[in-house]
Amino acid sequence: MKKINVITIDGPSASGKGALSRRVAHNFGFDILDSGLLYRLFGHFINLKFDSEEIVNKIKNEITFSLKNEIINVFFQDINITNNLRTEKIAKVASKMSSKSAVRESLFNIQRNFYIETGLVADGRDMGTVVFKDAKLKIFLTASPEIRAKRRYLELQNLGQEVNMLDLIADIKERDLKDSSRKLSPLIPDDEAHIIDSSDMSLEEVFSLTENLVKKEFI
Ligand code: DC
Repeated sequence: MKKINVITIDGPSASGKGALSRRVAHNFGFDILDSGLLYRLFGHFINLKFDSEEIVNKIKNEITFSLKNEIINVFFQDINITNNLRTEKIAKVASKMSSKSAVRESLFNIQRNFYIETGLVADGRDMGTVVFKDAKLKIFLTASPEIRAKRRYLELQNLGQEVNMLDLIADIKERDLKDSSRKLSPLIPDDEAHIIDSSDMSLEEVFSLTENLVKKEFI
């Protein structure tokens, strides 16, 4: 299989994929795809009572992404809706939508279209196993549910959202189970993936490990 200039970073929620992806993209001048945001957009528009066809058209034609200071913002008709998407409520709808084959299929080409030859970092659950099977480098980033809940807690607090730690741990465990046991594109590492457990590692340490892998494959 011909390999393309993509680094896939898959793993469970709040494993640090987002922060690592943004750091890698920034450092190597690659573009970025946060595929979770596409599923969150699907959930957001389902809540607003749009049907699947309308949602796909909206994502294709009316949504833009911007990466600034290692933060991804999502705009709908020029309105920044990022904070509406990064809530636990939307995460739950997104998780439900992501188990539907029609939803996954409709997002496949949208995700592939993010590819550019100068390089793409693709963050998600099935980037290395399904969407970018032909990626040059695959990483599977994980961490214990408790550590991930703590990270998500701080992240949501920074966004000004009040959350309960025990509820978060329970939500994360439930979502892990759903994401990894679903029939379609379950959350599992690809055979070619480098597995990194970041439970006892800082972002800097994870980045340094990843940096070495990128240099080996791309430079
Ligand atoms: O990474 P996230 O928390 O923003 O993802 C939101 C939901 O979308 C998550 O429950 C799983 C789903 N998802 C998926 O099924 N496949 C992807 N490639 C990315 C996300």
